[in-house]
Amino acid sequence: MSRIERIGDATLYLGDAYDIRPTLGWFDADILDPPYLLMTSGGGCFRKDRPYLDQIREEGFADGFDHRIINPLLCGAVVSFCSNDQLPKLATYLDGSFHRFAVCAWRKLTPMPVANKHYVPEIELYLHAWNRGYHPRGGLSDLKRIVDCRSRQSKDFDHPTVKPEAVMDKILCNAAGASVCDPFMGTGSTGVAAIRAGKRFTGIEHNPKHFDTACRRIEDAVRLTGAFEGEAA
Ligand SMILES: C[S@@+](CC[C@H](N)C(=O)[O-])C[C@H]1O[C@@H](n2cnc3c(N)ncnc32)[C@H](O)[C@@H]1O
Repeated sequence: MSRIERIGDATLYLGDAYDIRPTLGWFDADILDPPYLLMTSGGGCFRKDRPYLDQIREEGFADGFDHRIINPLLCGAVVSFCSNDQLPKLATYLDGSFHRFAVCAWRKLTPMPVANKHYVPEIELYLHAWNRGYHPRGGLSDLKRIVDCRSRQSKDFDHPTVKPEAVMDKILCNAAGASVCDPFMGTGSTGVAAIRAGKRFTGIEHNPKHFDTACRRIEDAVRLTGAFEGEAA
């Protein structure tokens, strides 16, 4: 492990999630946006307008992940984004590991205008699975399964899959408990929402550039909530 940063109530690890997550112990929720299983070829005549697909392939975001990083002995609940092709195996894994689960979705208000011999990618799925005592939280309007929101521009943080704040705020509002771990932190979107929700956050990211972005974003979130230790109210 090369670096640990402590920022307010957040602890960020630069390193490999498969090595680090098992050493961190219990969290009320693991909230992850793991590498997807995606086809990054194709795109036809629009391909040149979509350089983020190359970045997704080059940085290994399309290679899938080992589901065993989600350990029901180390968390009360898990929320995991999943691509279309990941859904069957991930749902089967979570169904066997947790008490209940729900399929939820972020509906993109401005989806890519492509179908590529498939469907237009206007929804991004996420699964919320929980054990007893960690069921989804919130009032009826918070507990809707679909959240509508525009995508973020990949150029904002030079990362192709940054999750929008409104989506992450909803997920953090629905997650039970006070502590959250995101083992595939990217630019820190889960951490920003966790800080805003008043939860303790731990994140892991192996790419130093994205790790630095996460540190900056989480510092800003901590500063905005006045949660730096010793900071005057
Ligand atoms: C889909 S992205 C997460 C994006 C994040 N939700 C955001 O809004 O910025 C997945 C991230 O996991 C990181 N990653 C992939 N494999 C990893 C591993 N074994 N250990 C730590 N990080 C990893 C990638 O570098 C990438 O930034």
